[in-house]
Amino acid sequence: MAIPCPPFIGSEKLSIESGAMSPSSPSPLILTQDELKKIAAYKAVEFVQSGMVLGLGTGSTAKHAVDRIADLLHQGKLKNIIGIPTSTKTHQQAVSLGIPLSDLNSHPVVDLAIDGADEVDSNLNLVKGRGGSLLREKMIESACKKFIVIVDESKLVAHVGASGAMPVEVVPFCWKFTQDRLQNLFDYAGCVAKLRTDNGGEKIFVTDNGNYIVDLFFKKDIGDLKVASDAILRLAGVVEHGMFLDMATTVIVAGELGITIKDK
Ligand code: A5P
Repeated sequence: MAIPCPPFIGSEKLSIESGAMSPSSPSPLILTQDELKKIAAYKAVEFVQSGMVLGLGTGSTAKHAVDRIADLLHQGKLKNIIGIPTSTKTHQQAVSLGIPLSDLNSHPVVDLAIDGADEVDSNLNLVKGRGGSLLREKMIESACKKFIVIVDESKLVAHVGASGAMPVEVVPFCWKFTQDRLQNLFDYAGCVAKLRTDNGGEKIFVTDNGNYIVDLFFKKDIGDLKVASDAILRLAGVVEHGMFLDMATTVIVAGELGITIKDK
């Protein structure tokens, strides 16, 4: 369930014209969810400066940001950008668009990352990884000086886990054992743990790192997120979870009433 937008730091009415953002006309405009994602993404790219090392996010929202960065590079409005992709999919997109790439080994400090999220709570804590890329996203976004999260307003939630799965990446070895332990950990919140499959079919979903994902579905609020995070990470067999706590420095939310920017 969405909650009201967090307190506005900045607020503007926007529309998309010819693939770029501009102040909107007074006429009412119904925007699709994808258009809202694009508006948030384009706004975030305004924070990119030439010479930056950039974390390139994964998902349908981040894809717009990567496209926009490439456009600005080709127009000569941005120069000397180095991208660090958070998934093989984004790597492929960036290569196809001609964005110069590197990795954390060569560039351990990232100036700015721009990425989407599955959920954003009122403290700017996130759920990520419903696209399966949480581990690389967390590694790269933990190494950032600034992390801008871009969402449409449907991603705002009252508490973590309110809108669906909280993904946990686990090693394939005895995954069922780890899945059961994860479910037991959150018994108090009515947790149901499910191994992710490709499009809900028979084939097990495998991450870019060769691991599996167990999705946790909660019937109730899980309470203190730091406590929950520590408990999950203490389980041998768990690689990483999709709660991104205290990581976002800015969240850009695009909604029917405009765009809001909240800084941590
Ligand atoms: C990828 O694993 C995810 O963390 C995505 O960043 C997240 O799922 C948001 O994706 P969309 O922008 O497609 O909603």
